[in-house]
Amino acid sequence: MILVTGATGTIGSHVVRLLTEGGLPFRAMSRRERPGGVRADFDDPASLARAVAGVDTVFLLTVPPTPTADHDIALVTAARAAGVRKIVKLSAIGSGERFDGATVGAWHLAAEEAIEASGLVWTMLRPPSFASNVLWHRALIQAGEPIPNLTGDSRQAVVDPRDVAAVAVAAMTGDAHDGRRYDLTGPELLTFADQAAILEGVLERPVRITDTNALDRLPAGMRTGVGWARAGGAAYVTDHVPRVLGRPAGTFEQWARDHREAFAAIP
Ligand SMILES: NC(=O)c1ccc[n+]([C@@H]2O[C@H](COP(=O)([O-])OP(=O)(O)OC[C@H]3O[C@@H](n4cnc5c(N)ncnc54)[C@H](OP(=O)(O)O)[C@@H]3O)[C@@H](O)[C@H]2O)c1
Repeated sequence: MILVTGATGTIGSHVVRLLTEGGLPFRAMSRRERPGGVRADFDDPASLARAVAGVDTVFLLTVPPTPTADHDIALVTAARAAGVRKIVKLSAIGSGERFDGATVGAWHLAAEEAIEASGLVWTMLRPPSFASNVLWHRALIQAGEPIPNLTGDSRQAVVDPRDVAAVAVAAMTGDAHDGRRYDLTGPELLTFADQAAILEGVLERPVRITDTNALDRLPAGMRTGVGWARAGGAAYVTDHVPRVLGRPAGTFEQWARDHREAFAAIP
């Protein structure tokens, strides 16, 4: 039995889809009551204990309101008590790097360390920016307004969230990825302007960008990571997605083509 946390979000919903397609037994966790799901909140230990009861493997995805590892640690505590065997954690690229006197992805790193110290089997997934992040700006794109570019001229190998989910499922359903830490990049380095140009071609409408270095307006947990990426820290491609999946990682253009309709819908 697999517990999928973050099951209603970007990555978790793809994990749920893949497990469903594979006919694999799982529980989808959400703070809301949903058919076939388990209702639990990382802030409510009793609900976590119910969610992990009888579970072998957990897909762990947290988005804490404060940049701490509290939610991850709450899950690890419940998992150990329930006899869970393995945790596959969604972390982030660069966690543990230093930028501007601070640690990049400090809360992800603290969570990874807690998982390693727990004695459970683990796999850590560290993607760069998701291709789907541009959907945050679809209202601006629809209105013909410029979308904010926080990363200047730096390049990143943005990853298709479907690939991140597919690697998570591979790590949960076999033992070949136990004890591995993967940087799950896409296949090519792109600036934000490159992404906008690709989107413009696919959507057949103007997609303008406006440069902003408003890092201080970002949530504290993201600021150092975005600064690190803006300084070029995330400008590398790995072969981790193709090695795990046995096929090339998806391109940003393919992701955009497959999501044209999402940009047409009113957000
Ligand atoms: N976006 C990027 O470019 C990027 C890059 C690298 C790493 N990451 C990492 O990816 C993660 C975000 O993944 P995502 O975009 O798939 O998330 P998302 O779409 O924002 O979904 C968040 C999920 O967390 C659940 N959730 C939120 N608070 C909860 C709580 N207190 N208790 C239980 N569940 C809770 C939500 O479920 P309900 O609302 O249904 O309860 C939802 O399913 C973060 O850890 C981030 O650091 C993101």
